[in-house]
Amino acid sequence: MTAPLSHRIQSGLATALSRVPSTAAPLAPPPPGSGLEAVPGDFGTPVVGRSLEFASDMLGFGRQQYERYGPVSWTGAFGRRMVSVLGPDALGQVLVNKDKYFGNADGWGFFIGPFFRRGVMLLDFEEHRTHRRILQEAFTRDRLAEYLEVMNPRIRRSLDDWTTGDGIRIYDRIKQMTLDIGTEVFVGAELGPQADRVNRAFVDTVHAGVAVVRAPVPGGSWKRGLDGRKVLEDYFAAQIPVKRAGEGRDMFSVLCRARSDEGETFSDDDIVNHMIFLLMAAHDTSTITLSMMSYLLAKNPEWQEKLREESLALDSDDLTGAELDSLVSLDLAMRETLRMYAPVGQLARITVRDAELQGFHIPAGTLMSLGIHASQRMEPWWNRPDEFDPDRFAPERAEDKSHRFAWMPFGGGVHKCIGLHFGGMEVKAIMHAMLRRFRWSVPADYVMPVGLTTGPTPADHLPLRLERL
Ligand code: HEM
Repeated sequence: MTAPLSHRIQSGLATALSRVPSTAAPLAPPPPGSGLEAVPGDFGTPVVGRSLEFASDMLGFGRQQYERYGPVSWTGAFGRRMVSVLGPDALGQVLVNKDKYFGNADGWGFFIGPFFRRGVMLLDFEEHRTHRRILQEAFTRDRLAEYLEVMNPRIRRSLDDWTTGDGIRIYDRIKQMTLDIGTEVFVGAELGPQADRVNRAFVDTVHAGVAVVRAPVPGGSWKRGLDGRKVLEDYFAAQIPVKRAGEGRDMFSVLCRARSDEGETFSDDDIVNHMIFLLMAAHDTSTITLSMMSYLLAKNPEWQEKLREESLALDSDDLTGAELDSLVSLDLAMRETLRMYAPVGQLARITVRDAELQGFHIPAGTLMSLGIHASQRMEPWWNRPDEFDPDRFAPERAEDKSHRFAWMPFGGGVHKCIGLHFGGMEVKAIMHAMLRRFRWSVPADYVMPVGLTTGPTPADHLPLRLERL
């Protein structure tokens, strides 16, 4: 069980203390004559900076920073100076990365490098392009249709086992189901006797990325993550020869045989690294989206009924991708959920050389945090941004078109989520099947406490009243 966030933050402060820069001076000034401005900001509380606010209240931190300083500012966090990027103009410039100022490898590497090294999101520039080209083979339209065929019966089996009643922690149920789907669709295995060990290793590896104590202390989540990674490496490496030789349709088999148009293929190490990263990228994001959507539909029962009517009208659990896409209200509600609770709430970057961002100078080697979650809750791009209002995405209102980067739960530019269609398909297939079987609710005065993993999560695991229809 992961320690409560407040506890992890407290112990993390001790680590931050030992890593704090010797000075809380601002970022280096712009070179004379450059015409650029110095980034505004402040270190925050001496020594620890704003680590606490950043780690415990992503939304509040982002809003405060934007109000005080605007779209580009600096602050102290995780023992160093970090630039916070907010609002669609600034985010768009970093994501498009026209001048190749911003790198992922050491940006994301700072947070999750030891656990997800050489995953495609942690590669840069030419090398990233090559790997992404090969990886694309696992995400074609035909492949997605095959994954959905495997996924549908798995969803039915999981939901058939769900018990009903009060206080059902829906986050745990959903997490287990997406883990089971990942095992079948990605790994292509009924794991058998190894199941518990591999699943545990996977969960430990994912959680370690947000550990606040960033050192291998015995019993700590960082250490468990490193151990988990080793279990996964050995597990995948041992199976590569069989997967390469076979004709499996799971993602692991597909990666073993993937060949780009230019004839490039993955080495054994590449396959292990990509598998570990892909499992993580798919698992937490779908779990968060489904949990937050369950919450929003419990708080807005008229929308839950609307979606249910639409799903019941289709008269089948097992839909094709095209049928899932025909569920218009489900699509609107999913997009609104992704806006309100971006599952990857912050993206990481680092300046690989001196950079210009929105007229500001950012020195080489500066860690940057891209505030997706907070930016998707800001006026003027969104009306009443804290309200659940799926119709804002309907063509006649189209608030998401207020700016090219107003809605960006999947990022943008060359690192834009390669699994966005897969993710949308999985979320819709599960929600469709849930709506057809169950009705759920929360007490009228219930407000979900928001915790943090890769993005906002239900800190209390979202206890619901769940009834079978
Ligand atoms: C609702 C679900 C999902 C959300 C909100 C989401 C979000 C994101 C975001 C924001 C990024 C960009 C990271 C950056 O620029 O630094 C990203 C990248 C990525 N995602 Fe997703 N993701 C989702 C589902 C998935 C799924 C299901 C998969 C795999 C099957 C996946 C695989 C990836 C990969 C491989 C990357 C890195 C791409 C690259 O660097 O070229 N994601 N995702």
